[in-house]
This record gives sequence, structure tokens and C-alpha cells, in this order.
Amino acid sequence: MNRAEIMAGWLPETATPKVSAEHFAPSNIALCKYWGKRDTELNLPVNASLSVSLDQLGSRTRVEPIESVSDEVWLNGMRQPADSRFASRVSAFIDLFRSRHPELAFRVHSVNNIPTAAGLASSASGFAALTKALDDAFGLGLSPTQQSVAARLGSGSACRSLFDGFVEWQMGVREDGLDSHGVRLEQTWPGLCIGLLKVDESEKSVDSRAGMQRTKETAHLYQSWPLQAAADLSRLQQAIETRDFALLGSVAEQNALSMHATMIASWPPLLYWQPGSVAAMQKVWRLRAEGLAVYFTMDAGPNLKLLFEAASRPALEAQFPGLEIVQPFGV
Ligand code: ADP
Ligand code: DP6
Ligand code: CO
Repeated sequence: MNRAEIMAGWLPETATPKVSAEHFAPSNIALCKYWGKRDTELNLPVNASLSVSLDQLGSRTRVEPIESVSDEVWLNGMRQPADSRFASRVSAFIDLFRSRHPELAFRVHSVNNIPTAAGLASSASGFAALTKALDDAFGLGLSPTQQSVAARLGSGSACRSLFDGFVEWQMGVREDGLDSHGVRLEQTWPGLCIGLLKVDESEKSVDSRAGMQRTKETAHLYQSWPLQAAADLSRLQQAIETRDFALLGSVAEQNALSMHATMIASWPPLLYWQPGSVAAMQKVWRLRAEGLAVYFTMDAGPNLKLLFEAASRPALEAQFPGLEIVQPFGV
């Protein structure tokens, strides 16, 4: 089955966009990472993953039908050239919703309040917000689970951004991927903090999609990744269940470094770290040795996300001036 066929089943024959629509979706940070696809057309993952959504940080996207032969895509107030990767990826995603009405064109305005394509999961919030807006504009009334499947077709990690709090992306077993989507966990963790430590906000030269494909195709080390991820996922579930912060932090940090090890073992090698990233990692390790309970995770980019609890917040703010802190479950 291809992407268009999956969505076509959910499009009523009469579906025409009645209205413009605007929605927000949060970005999310994976504690157990998604890295590698078993199906690149449908964004079906090799392994299940688990994330926490970033509350107010993410993407706000507005779609409006326009009289035109092609879409207009705007990001952060700037028109994106029609032949840019950004605009073509958005238009290709809208195609899934307008397959019964290919003549329709849209103006899409999206604003990210996180850096774009810098390893802070802009593709996750971007495609989740776009999915919600298109569902609304076309009057589809898809369930959150169906929206999660649809968002996954835009960017895998986006399937987790349909939900707040802790979210597990169940990898599923079906070939059509209808069972591969985010599921919100019931557990909360008041006081859990995520600090965005920005080392470099410029756009990465190898995007997550290309990076994970290169790793899967060229790194022998990648063979061990699914085992690592499965073990980490169940230890994270246990950490969340028992609110064991040392377990949560240590598993998340080891999971991220294991993923980066597979990237470094790719050819040509993939190293998203910069000197500032390494310096920050070493600082975290030093602070931890001194007794501060702080861990980090990192995605496909040079920036770190620090994990700590509210009691450590003043100490972390003093150590890392300018740290942007999110408490997804409140105080
Ligand atoms: P990130 O680490 O930020 O998720 P990726 O390489 O995974 O980086 O994805 C970046 C891509 O995500 C962008 O090039 C663009 O195609 C898409 N993207 C980012 N923000 C948005 C948005 N607000 N709306 C639609 N697509 C977006
Ligand atoms: C390192 O979801 O951005 O952030 O599915 O190709 O769009 P595509 O990739 P994407 O990959 C995210 C990779 C990661 C880990 C994670 O978020 O789980
Ligand atoms: Co991404």
C-alpha cells in the first residue's frame, strides 16, 4: 500500500475544504529514539520509541484554500520558494488530503517557536500541526489515533506530537502501518524539567531522514540498535511507573549516545556534535559527579536537552545561563 491509498480510505467523496483552519502542535523530545525505518514510503520504524511533548513549544499552522494553480508555503513569515525542499514536502503532504480534488490549492502559514531543522524536532510539531489543520479544513473528523497515523506519513516523529505528556510510538506489525502510531501514557511527572541547551541553531546539513537511512544502510553497528532500543523502552516505562528519575535520566542519556554511536559508525560518517556539544556533555558529567541529578539527550543536531527535576532548577539556571526550560507536567 502506498501513502495515498492509506489516506484515501479516510476521505469522504464529498470532502471539499470549507474553511480555513489553524492549529498548534507541540514538539516532542524522545527519551528512547526513533532511528531507522523498516518502510521508507510509510515511515514505519524499526523500533518503538517514547517521548515527552514540549507543552507550548512547537508549531502553529494555518491553512486556507486559495484560487491558484499551486500552493503557497510560508514559514515564520517568509515565503518558501515553490521548488524548495520545505515547500515540496508540505505540498506532497497536502496531496494526501486532496487526492479526490487535485485542483485545490492552499496557502500554508506556519510559525515555529523552536529552531527549524536543528535537531529540536520541528518536523514533529510541523507535520502534527499541519495534520490537525488539514483535518479541520477538510472536515474529516479523524480521531487522534488516525491523525497520528496521518502525521507519521509526513514525518515519523510527528505521530507522537498529536498528544501531550509521555507518548509511546507503537511500531505496529501491519504492512499498511495503521497500527503504527502514538499512544498517550496515563502517567504524569509533575516537576520534570527539560532544558533546551542551544549550541547552534542553524539548519543541519544532513536531515534526520537522510541520516537514519545512511546509518541503516552503512553501519554494521546499527544491527545492535533495535535490541538497545527495546531494552531502553521497557526500562523507561518502569522509570515512569515508579518515578525513578535516576533510571529515567540514565536510560535516556545512554539511548541517545547509543544512537549517536551508530551515526558515527556510518559511512560517510555522521557527526552532529560540535565542540560546544562535547563541552556541554562534559559539563553535565562533571555536575553529576558533584551530586547534581542532571542528564542529557540529543537528537540529530548539535543541541542538548537537559533532563532534571524542579528541585535542581535553580542550580541548572545558574550553571547554564539562558537555558530554556519546559515543565511538561507543571510544577
Ligand atoms: P528537526 O530536527 O527540526 O525535526 P528534520 O531534519 O527532522 O529536523 O526536519 C526538518 C524539516 O521538517 C524541514 O526541512 C521541513 O521539511 C520540516 N518542517 C519543519 N518545520 C515545519 C513546519 N512548521 N511545517 C511543516 N514542515 C516543517
Ligand atoms: C533523532 O521524524 O525527523 O529526532 O520520519 O524521516 O521525518 P522522518 O524523521 P524524523 O526523525 C527523528 C529522529 C530523532 C529521534 C526521535 O525523534 O525519535
Ligand atoms: Co525531525
